[in-house]
Amino acid sequence: MSAELAQQVRQRRTFAIISHPDAGKTTLTEKLLLFSGAIQIAGSVKARKASRHATSDWMEIEKQRGISVASSVMQMEYRGCTINLLDTPGHQDFSEDTYRVLTAVDAALMVIDAANGVEPQTRRLLQVCRARNTPILTFVNKMDREVKDPLALMDEIEAELGMTVVPFTWPVGMAKFFGGVLDLRKDQMRVFTPGEDRVAGTEEIVDGIANPVLTERFGDVYEQAAGEIELVREAAPAFDEAEFLAGRQTPMFFGSAVNNFGVQEVLDALVDLAPPPGERAALQRVVQPEETKFTGVVFKIQANMDPAHRDRIAFLRVASGKFQRGMNLKVVRSGKTLRPNTVVTFMSQKRELLDEAYAGDIIGIPNHGVLQLGDTLTEGEALQYTGLPFFAPELFRSVEVADPLKTKQLRAGLTQLGEEGAIQVFRPMAGSVLLLGAVGQLQFEVVAHRLEHEYGVKARILAARFNVARWVTCDEADGGEKELKRFIDHNSHRMALDAVDAPTLLLEYAGELRAIQDNWPKIKFHALREHA
Ligand code: G4P
Repeated sequence: MSAELAQQVRQRRTFAIISHPDAGKTTLTEKLLLFSGAIQIAGSVKARKASRHATSDWMEIEKQRGISVASSVMQMEYRGCTINLLDTPGHQDFSEDTYRVLTAVDAALMVIDAANGVEPQTRRLLQVCRARNTPILTFVNKMDREVKDPLALMDEIEAELGMTVVPFTWPVGMAKFFGGVLDLRKDQMRVFTPGEDRVAGTEEIVDGIANPVLTERFGDVYEQAAGEIELVREAAPAFDEAEFLAGRQTPMFFGSAVNNFGVQEVLDALVDLAPPPGERAALQRVVQPEETKFTGVVFKIQANMDPAHRDRIAFLRVASGKFQRGMNLKVVRSGKTLRPNTVVTFMSQKRELLDEAYAGDIIGIPNHGVLQLGDTLTEGEALQYTGLPFFAPELFRSVEVADPLKTKQLRAGLTQLGEEGAIQVFRPMAGSVLLLGAVGQLQFEVVAHRLEHEYGVKARILAARFNVARWVTCDEADGGEKELKRFIDHNSHRMALDAVDAPTLLLEYAGELRAIQDNWPKIKFHALREHA
């Protein structure tokens, strides 16, 4: 371990921003970039959101539905820290991709629309964060609107998400009477002024949250806020760092992203509260981020981000050591060596060539299929990171080509889309028709669209009779490979192989599963596969 590496690790924060669509995730992302100085004028993230529609055909689907399909990565510098921000797709049909993105972060920022409270997609994402004990910061957005009562919101978040909420700021009024926030830690009020022009450090501050000036100036709404704070102070526990880091307590901030208000507190909280990259479990051992040897794990693959270049980028989270351009990397799964020269970073919205990266950073490696989801890259050590989840699909379709001469393209396209994790592709052991598995209906539409526009294949997506999938394994102590083979042979009419050749049982009814489990007590049936 070196002091330089330890220092670099300490200075890094890597987090995902999660919310239900329309809560203000894009707006807040943009304002975080603006306040950190990564971008100069507001509007570029939005513009990018819009131009993505223009440049990428398959994103038409996104446009039509007003959802964010693809995740992206941004990096900024703030107060001596390098902050990596990972966007997550908002639509629930893309939750699989989101789950994998969440394995690459050390903290999450949850954006809640104060008028709507906790919405379904927030709930789902939070479940994943909580399963991984990811620390969560909460930003309650849109206080410039007619919104829910803040005490009720706090209760709702606590009850719905099962976390203790610790307010760091408290709103004074709302909508046209929104006066600003009382900062409970700094004992001051930050006064709200509408508008998008204000930059960091220029808002009006009144010292002392009990300052009599506040009553004079804000009247009833201030009195009410002061009363609420009394209640909160009695009821809510003090902030406890260990509880926060374990994902059981969330600090809450109020603001209005579109008005640049409350944004700086969030940035400060990321630096002051969110943890730097920590250790990571591999099958062989636990790896420390400041170890000198480079290791990293692929958590996302995206093909054809730029249709003009037909590129395929593997997003890799650096887990330890220092990445340097031109170094030799071993893909542990295949034993192949990579010497990526055109690795990209995502600073300030532009893809830029990257020279070095440290634990917590996300780098993009263009490749033509050498890298797969879950792959571990090292300087030579045989190390395989765990924890990248694949969920047993709940929806199945078979797929046919309209033009039989395009069968090869169909296979190639589906293989790539499968490797990307856009859909799960199963090859039944009996028969030759490929099966697609998804957790959301929209995934099939995206796949059909992408097959046509990126691979020139018009595919027919047809109903399939299966509704349940389980990966099957057998422990050595229970007979291992031999027993597994016996099971597979016996069930070959309903067995398939997935993208990494893991044997999968496909069933029509959930009820069948119970009977099969009773008959095959030595076989393990998994609804979740963690890439190994
Ligand atoms: P998302 O990425 O979570 O889907 O949300 P996004 O930032 O796109 O915001 C959704 C809508 O909410 C946008 O309005 C945005 O301007 C608005 N918004 C974001 N923050 C605030 C806020 O603090 N106060 C208010 N009142 N509105 C906010 P839109 O009409 O859909 O788009 P636009 O044309 O205004 O950009």
